[in-house]
Amino acid sequence: MYKVLLFLTIVTLWYACTPKQKSNVADNEKPLTDHPGYTLYKTYCIACHGGTAKPQERVAPPAFMVQKHYKSRYTNKEDFVKAVVNWINQPDSAKSLMPGAIRHFNLMPPLNLPVEQRQQIAEYLYDTRFTEPAWAQEHMRQERRRMNRQ
Ligand code: HEC
Repeated sequence: MYKVLLFLTIVTLWYACTPKQKSNVADNEKPLTDHPGYTLYKTYCIACHGGTAKPQERVAPPAFMVQKHYKSRYTNKEDFVKAVVNWINQPDSAKSLMPGAIRHFNLMPPLNLPVEQRQQIAEYLYDTRFTEPAWAQEHMRQERRRMNRQ
């Protein structure tokens, strides 16, 4: 028990004392309004994944966090898009890259959209450059640590 507490104290202090990395604010923070997936994304995804709600009012992780998790797993656009296309109409905890989000929000309900629409939405999710608050880097680090412990 003592060791656990000591470890937690050290981790907390380390976090408190490490200078915060500059957040990865994208140069282009505007939505890509002429992207083919923009309207579809706005219609079907933004209500839950939009970025303005306060954390305690959220019903789903913000889109930029989804993008971040998927980009860190899938290094090329094709694989990213394929995974998101499959996810939209068949969310499945076994395929999840965000198990913490499922614990927190429950599994996303499936959206029964035609494959061409899912494709455009997934491409939009890949192409958009979201503004990223400073806490996101920290959050990813904690997630990674949690995953490594499991
Ligand atoms: C009714 C609310 C809701 C809508 C609408 C919605 N989502 Fe989600 N989505 C969630 C929730 C809640 C989660 C987190 C839990 C999870 O991962 O299943 C999530 C997670 C995700 C994930 C991460 C899945 C994982 O766990 O790896 C992706 C990708 C995603 N959504 C894409 C989309 C896209 C694209 C759309 C629009 C076509 C969309 N979502 C619409 C609620 C929603």
